[in-house]
Amino acid sequence: MADKPMSRRLILTGGLAAVGGAAAATGVGVLRARDEVVENQDEPIVVEPFHGRHQAGIATVPQGHVAVLALDVAEGVDADRFAAVLRMLSHDAERLTRGEAALGDTEPQLATHPARLTVTFGFGYALFDKLDLADRRPDDFTVLPEFTVDELDPAFVGGDLMVQICSDDVTAVAHAMRMLVKDSRSIMRVRWVQRGFRQTTPVIEPGATPRNVMGQLDGTSNPTTDELDAVVWRDGPDWLRDGSTMVIRRIRAEMETWDAVDPAAKDMVIGRRNDTGAPLTGRSEHDEPDFDAVDGLRLPVIAANAHIRRARLSDGRRIFRRAYNYDDQLTPHGIPDTGLLFIAYQSDVTTFVDMQRRIDEADMLNSWVTPVGSAEFLIPPGCRPGGWIGETLLG
Ligand code: HEM
Repeated sequence: MADKPMSRRLILTGGLAAVGGAAAATGVGVLRARDEVVENQDEPIVVEPFHGRHQAGIATVPQGHVAVLALDVAEGVDADRFAAVLRMLSHDAERLTRGEAALGDTEPQLATHPARLTVTFGFGYALFDKLDLADRRPDDFTVLPEFTVDELDPAFVGGDLMVQICSDDVTAVAHAMRMLVKDSRSIMRVRWVQRGFRQTTPVIEPGATPRNVMGQLDGTSNPTTDELDAVVWRDGPDWLRDGSTMVIRRIRAEMETWDAVDPAAKDMVIGRRNDTGAPLTGRSEHDEPDFDAVDGLRLPVIAANAHIRRARLSDGRRIFRRAYNYDDQLTPHGIPDTGLLFIAYQSDVTTFVDMQRRIDEADMLNSWVTPVGSAEFLIPPGCRPGGWIGETLLG
């Protein structure tokens, strides 16, 4: 509906981020909550702002669907050529997130309901070598080492350009992906795509913790919005200020054997009760776990190899988990290919590596989950109206 005047529409911001320049520039009334619906609006659309200090799709309240794409840049492409295409992709993303067709959109009607669409771009390790920019890559950014639990399938490893596309409508995800892939084709090939989903409103209350495919409340002790500054965003090098790093691990859940575990043992594995999400030392979900508590036999209530103990670094460094589930094929016997698209944002990938090392060494959960894919990306900062994602490195 690109031919309808924007002023007839209602734009609602669904996320945490400030109101973006795109909506403000069109002079459209912007509301802060989904329930503030104005009468006589015929076509409400829900928009997450594209512009801002940080890229959208990280602090944004997680949408129900994701497709994460990894693209490889063809040999011989230089930084200028890559920049020209990235600029076009960024402009496509900007238009699509506000409910407008991308330039040259062959299915423009599919763009009209973005349903909180966000598009987040990231740069892989090898990209910097290919573009002759290795000196701009920060030293703390490395390819993850292989862990003993890993059974990596090369089909889900690495990539030069990462595009995370999220929306509450899977149709909007599919359409955005189609447009972005088409516009990248002149210089890039698809390396992998991974699709995922998670519980969101109205299935769960706003702010409530979703359950993953293993049945657990997953995300309880994530940093709050106020804590994200310290956990997620970077202050250097200059081109990466207000950016981040993203790790995506495809972790298969061994559901046949997990289903055979009795409920009390499942609680022990995590260190929290599966039904309420409360730590084994507490009563409700957001009680702080007491890692010193012991039972009548002087054994720790939260076991030494419980997941929440292994996943906690003693120096307090944290990651921000924005995980999705995947659930793909079934074998003829009905065994599912399912698990987590474990997506983590943190200022520095070494925080993730140190945490995964502790998990690798001794985490009971390892018996029922297997990492089969792994990739890491530098996430450039957001941009202002008129700008584009990646301009601080390539502009
Ligand atoms: C399929 C694999 C995984 C599953 C099913 C899983 C599940 C869970 C569950 C149920 C919790 C407790 C509730 C919560 O705070 O969210 C938790 C906590 C946590 N997980 Fe995982 N997790 C997985 C993999 C990982 C990995 C790979 C990492 C990082 C390398 C990780 C890091 C954490 C952290 C940091 C916490 C919070 C610990 C704390 O309370 O301080 N998890 N996870």
